[in-house]
Formats: sequence, C-alpha cells, structure tokens
Amino acid sequence: MIPQNSPLANYLSLSPAIDEALQRVVHSGHYILGPETAAFEKEFAEYIGVRHATGTGNGTDALHLALRAIGVGAGDEVITVSHTAVATVAATELADATPILVDIDLRSYTMDVTQVQKAISSRTKAILPVHLYGQPADLAPLVRLAKDHDLYLIEDCAQAHGARYHGKKVGSWGDAGIFSFYPTKNLGCLGDGGAVVTNRWDIHQKLVALRQYGWDSSRSSQLQGFNSRLDEMQAAVLRVKLTHLDENNEKRAQIASVYDQSLDLDGVVLPKPMPQTTHVYHQYVLRCAERSIRDELISFMRGRHIQTAIHYPVPIHLQPAYAKRIERRTSLSVTETVAETIISLPMYPELNRGEIEKVTAALRDFFARRKSRNASQGST
Ligand SMILES: Cc1ncc(COP(=O)(O)O)c(C=O)c1O
Repeated sequence: MIPQNSPLANYLSLSPAIDEALQRVVHSGHYILGPETAAFEKEFAEYIGVRHATGTGNGTDALHLALRAIGVGAGDEVITVSHTAVATVAATELADATPILVDIDLRSYTMDVTQVQKAISSRTKAILPVHLYGQPADLAPLVRLAKDHDLYLIEDCAQAHGARYHGKKVGSWGDAGIFSFYPTKNLGCLGDGGAVVTNRWDIHQKLVALRQYGWDSSRSSQLQGFNSRLDEMQAAVLRVKLTHLDENNEKRAQIASVYDQSLDLDGVVLPKPMPQTTHVYHQYVLRCAERSIRDELISFMRGRHIQTAIHYPVPIHLQPAYAKRIERRTSLSVTETVAETIISLPMYPELNRGEIEKVTAALRDFFARRKSRNASQGST
C-alpha cells in the first residue's frame, strides 16, 4: 500500500541524527523546558522571522494559549473557517470564546475575506485564518481588516511551516501564529508538540506564564495558567528536522509539480497556488465534479493499493458536537460543496518516483474508464 503520508519514512531519512539527539536528551537528565526547548524556540523564531517562539504541548494548546494571551475570553467572538481541522474551533472554545465560522474561497480553500467582513460584530475580538494544506490565506486584506476594526489577527499555521505570502513567512503576519508539530506535519516531531510565534514581547511573556501554571520567574502564579510544555525529546527531534524543512518542502513542491503535469484531466480540479504565495503542500488536494465520483475514486485507489484521505469530510458546523450550537452568520455553501468533492493524494517528501507514477497512472486510468463508460452509455 502506498500510504497517504508517512512520518516513519521521514524519521528513517534522518534517523542517525535524530537517534543521537534523543540519546543526548536521555543522558542529560533534563526532560522538560531545558536547553533543547530553548534552542529550538530560538531557531524556530529565526526561521519564521519573528522575535519569539514559545513551545507548547501541541498545536491545539498553542492556539488556546495564544487566544488567552491576547485576552480572548467569555463573550468574545473569533472569526474562523468551518473548513479546517476541528482543533481550530475546539481551541477557540477552550479559550471560552464563540467561534463564528465563515466560508472559504473556492480556489484557495482558505478564508473568504468578503465573508469575514459580513461576520464582524461588536463582540468580535480576533480573526483566525487557517493556511490550509500549506496554502497561505489572503493575508494582506485580513491584516487591513483587523487594523480597521481594531481586531487581533492570529494565524493558524499548523499545516504551513515555511509557507510564504508576499515573500514573508506565515506566522509573522499576525499578532501571533500557531504551529502544530504533530508527526505528519511538514515539521513533525515523534509525538505531540506545538508553538506560538509572535513579535510582541507582551504576548510572549503571557504565553510563557500561561503554559506553566501562570508562573512568574519565582514560580508564583500571577495568572490562572495551564500545563502545556514542549518536552526536551520533541524539541531535540524538531531541531534536527528544522534543518531539513526547506529541502523537504522543496521535495513536496516537486511531487506537486509532477501531479500537476500528469493530472490535468477532464473532471479534475487541481490545486492552484495563489499569486504571491509559496504553497508548501502539506496536502495535495484534488476536487471532483461530484461526491459520487470522489467516493468511487477513493475505492478505486484503494483497489490499486493507494491510500487517499479527505481533509475534511464533514465541515465543523455540520458535526454533531457543533451543529446545534454554531451560529451561521454567512452562507457556508462553498465549504459544504468542497467537503463533498475533495480528495487528498499521497504527499510526503520521501514518496519516490515509482510510487508517484503509480498514483498518477491509477488516477488517469480511473478518469479514462469513466470517460469511456459515459461515452458508451451516451451512444446506446
Ligand atoms: C489546521 C490545524 N489547526 C490546529 C491543529 C492542532 O494541532 P495538534 O494536533 O498538534 O493539536 C491542526 C492539527 O491537526 C491543524 O491541522
């Protein structure tokens, strides 16, 4: 089976350096918030091009704490998308805020700026775009909108490590950016991990306290805090992997380019990076004309021993935990159509030429069979 992603392949490609880093931590006797985490935070902040990074236990916590750090709480609204990982919305509710979900743009699959405008109310505190699949959301108008309405802009960069908008990395545009280092991410550790990046000292200071019981430097709780720390083992792994992130993003882009060239087929909508952005292809997502075709394609690919996925099959506002509670302020029809017709192809840097060819050959075969089936039905 060709997997849809493979954190194991990524580990194996770097195993001597990762094993050495892990041994270093094991023998240091320092396992939580030590030199590896401090060094990773510095290196990651430099990589993104911001002043501060704060490691957290995972990406959901990173978002929860970032929202708390800017003062989001009960009664506040945070505008985000319904076409995202449930974590985006779950973290918003962890911060006691009300998520207001808006539609996405059909080409980029990211936040539709015109819909954000319609969703702003007197209770809106922050705008939370998601750089889904590695495609940066349209940040310039969002920065403007946030400024005009005196709102915070928090970027969900969990799927977009290293992606750029107008040459500048995502995470450095808003008041803060959050990252997940879940194993399958472009920068993934060997367990859970996350980080918040920001240029703002006040936000950074608050995050440092919030991730550890609200402590100040004398371990006195000045704020009502939490426990969400990036551990030394994960930080050491991330330091190794960070030095290969650009090279791995480049490999993803090359795979995407082969897919682009081989899959320009009738009935298939290919991903199209938006102008002035660098897409880092966390996912390579196609769109079919109808749900039935997409579902048939998934089974066909499985029959060819190729794993595919759907990111995400049910929009948040239609999921049982949210459906009855989420207020719809704008139409979410693009989100609903997209969820029914998308499919994510295998995408990870270690995917080899033979495997890529198997994927493209299977897809071409599927659409050729459909075409001849339709032609023969049409001629009878
Ligand atoms: C868009 C998005 N936001 C947030 C998260 C949350 O990250 P984590 O799984 O590390 O909590 C994820 C990861 O699944 C994600 O894809």
